[in-house]
Amino acid sequence: MSGPRFEGRSALVTGGGGGLGRAVAAALATEGAAVAVADVALPAAEEAAAALRDAGAAAFALELDVADAASVGVAFARAGTELGGLDVLVNLAGGSLGTPRDLPEIGPDDYDRVLDVNLRGTFLCCQAAVPLLAPSGRGAIVNVSSIAARGTTPVTGVPYAAAKAGVLGLTRRLAREVGPLGIRVNAVAPGLFLSGPRLEGMWAGLSERERAEVLDAIPLRRLPGLAEAAAPILFLASDEASYVTGTVLDVNGGRFMGG
Ligand SMILES: NC(=O)c1ccc[n+]([C@@H]2O[C@H](COP(=O)([O-])OP(=O)(O)OC[C@H]3O[C@@H](n4cnc5c(N)ncnc54)[C@H](O)[C@@H]3O)[C@@H](O)[C@H]2O)c1
Repeated sequence: MSGPRFEGRSALVTGGGGGLGRAVAAALATEGAAVAVADVALPAAEEAAAALRDAGAAAFALELDVADAASVGVAFARAGTELGGLDVLVNLAGGSLGTPRDLPEIGPDDYDRVLDVNLRGTFLCCQAAVPLLAPSGRGAIVNVSSIAARGTTPVTGVPYAAAKAGVLGLTRRLAREVGPLGIRVNAVAPGLFLSGPRLEGMWAGLSERERAEVLDAIPLRRLPGLAEAAAPILFLASDEASYVTGTVLDVNGGRFMGG
């Protein structure tokens, strides 16, 4: 394949101000894409977009609350205008959002918040993106699930597992519906990535023995770098995956090996 894979293409990354979001936005920009960095935390999105512009890329920040239909409408309209359409959507906004992990502590609002951002947000952004992705006949959506939806993990709780499992069902059903428009829809299911201070602190707070237990469960025996989440996402978004749709790619060092 000659030339950068995303030259002349445009991309919108939700959660683009976060740890994995920044890595994905930077990787897309490095490979030639014009990138809308969208996040509910506007300063984080602005900082990420400014770093991309400093490196010579075309990038801008977008304020976006993925769980809010009106906000999604405004942000995607602006993205469509500024980017002149859309080729790639990466839905990274999500997480367990500081909600409790353990069943007795989880309130109904905690459950709603996790589902609203991870699942409703993914739905609303996909729905808003489809009319922008359709004209080129080569649009791609990459949704972000989790190992929490593939096996189980003690790091996050039941609402997160439910939301990220929902993302997989959404991905398959949407892939079927928009395939005739030339739009591919796939998901990645990452294992543990130390994507920011919170998870780095969690890792640093574990004892040697606890860390060894985590690593023992990973056949590759190490935690990944953030670029190792970005690369599979870019693969699914690129023409290299032009006949791949409705699938989930596990990115976890072999911790969960599923069919
Ligand atoms: N880090 C991991 O180990 C891991 C593993 C599996 C899946 N994931 C998933 O990857 C994605 C990114 O995770 P991360 O580790 O980079 O987390 P992060 O917290 O660094 O980034 C998440 C970003 O989403 C943004 N966000 C939160 N609510 C939003 C909303 N309503 N609208 C728009 N943006 C919103 C946050 O402001 C933040 O910038 C999440 O969906 C997470 O569930 C992460």
